[in-house]
Amino acid sequence: MSDPLAYLKEELAALEEQGIRQHPRVLEGEQRARTRFDGRDVVNLASNNYLGLAAHPRLKEAASRAAAELGAGSGAVRTIAGTMSAHLELERRFAEFKGAERALMFQAGFTANAGTVAAILTKEDVIVSDELNHASIIDGARLSRAQIKVYAHKDVDAASALLAESADARRRLLITDGVFSMDGDIAPLPGLVEAAENAGAIMMIDDAHASGVLGETGRGTVEHFGLHGRVDIQVGTLSKAIGVLGGFIAGPDHLIEWLVNRGRPFLFSTSAPPAVVAACVAALDVMRDEPERLRRLWDRTRFFKEGLSGLGFDTGISETPITPVIAGDETKAVELSRGLWDEGVFTPAVVFPTVARGKARVRTIVTADHSEEDLGDALAAFERVGRKLGLI
Ligand SMILES: Cc1ncc(COP(=O)(O)O)c(C=O)c1O
Repeated sequence: MSDPLAYLKEELAALEEQGIRQHPRVLEGEQRARTRFDGRDVVNLASNNYLGLAAHPRLKEAASRAAAELGAGSGAVRTIAGTMSAHLELERRFAEFKGAERALMFQAGFTANAGTVAAILTKEDVIVSDELNHASIIDGARLSRAQIKVYAHKDVDAASALLAESADARRRLLITDGVFSMDGDIAPLPGLVEAAENAGAIMMIDDAHASGVLGETGRGTVEHFGLHGRVDIQVGTLSKAIGVLGGFIAGPDHLIEWLVNRGRPFLFSTSAPPAVVAACVAALDVMRDEPERLRRLWDRTRFFKEGLSGLGFDTGISETPITPVIAGDETKAVELSRGLWDEGVFTPAVVFPTVARGKARVRTIVTADHSEEDLGDALAAFERVGRKLGLI
């Protein structure tokens, strides 16, 4: 019998040939600084577990208790029968964390971004977007059917010019990632906020990699730049520094009430189970009670970055715990990743089309859980493999 999906086999073979087919490694224990993937014990520089909360005892305990008391699933979408008091408690806590009037939980950061952009704009509107914004922003922009205008990475003047030339649009949205996930650099938020204010545009920031990481108390890019009250929509994820799963929108009451009525992932997808919600609340407690985690994250980040640049590696323009080690062509990046793996260090290769050609790299992410010994071992491995490949 003929297989109408057979063409996918050829597409997969093409991906394999280009070296860009995904073969995810399998984590065989907890998400930790040293752990086991595919049967090998490694220093793990691949996760987004910035504060080391994914396996924190208080989160595990909260999740177990919630599952025992409230069950494994919520059983419905939020607007039908799936709103539990735990969801409301987490939303109240997250609004407080972000200094916003109100917050709304989504099933993921991806659906928070995509669902919100699609819910607040229509085809009469214009979206002005950084060229390196996350895929979920791009998908939301496409779903909204608004016109999408892309500016060169972090170019505030270009963003202002696009806002100005769109003055006759019904509404305009200026949108940026707070921390860019492939280079670890920070958006020029003060300039963008000013541009949005001058144009009367909505300002939205995706703080997936900044929540829990940037700012004196880890509240994100708005805190980092002291821009409280000047960003209309803040997106957060519960899946990275917070260590669990889910997404968030924080903003004014009327925005949240609109998303309750028109945010499609909120309306048409089942809400998070009690264990997830309770673990997220526990994560916010731990962030409050153990501020040394944030300090340790940045101490370790500085230690590792200095080590890499001291060895002579090209670490690009990173300003955060995400540090790329740029190898240049695709093959070199894959060889670097493989060589490090053989030496007991897990750092995935990132190649075209995720990053530009000639900028292929391995991406490292330091967490508060890494000890100096873990990072020292990783640096020694980088030195051996980097020399072998002629990168340093
Ligand atoms: C910049 C950015 N935004 C949004 C997301 C989506 O977040 P989540 O993993 O919670 O869906 C990610 C994560 O992959 C991200 O890197």
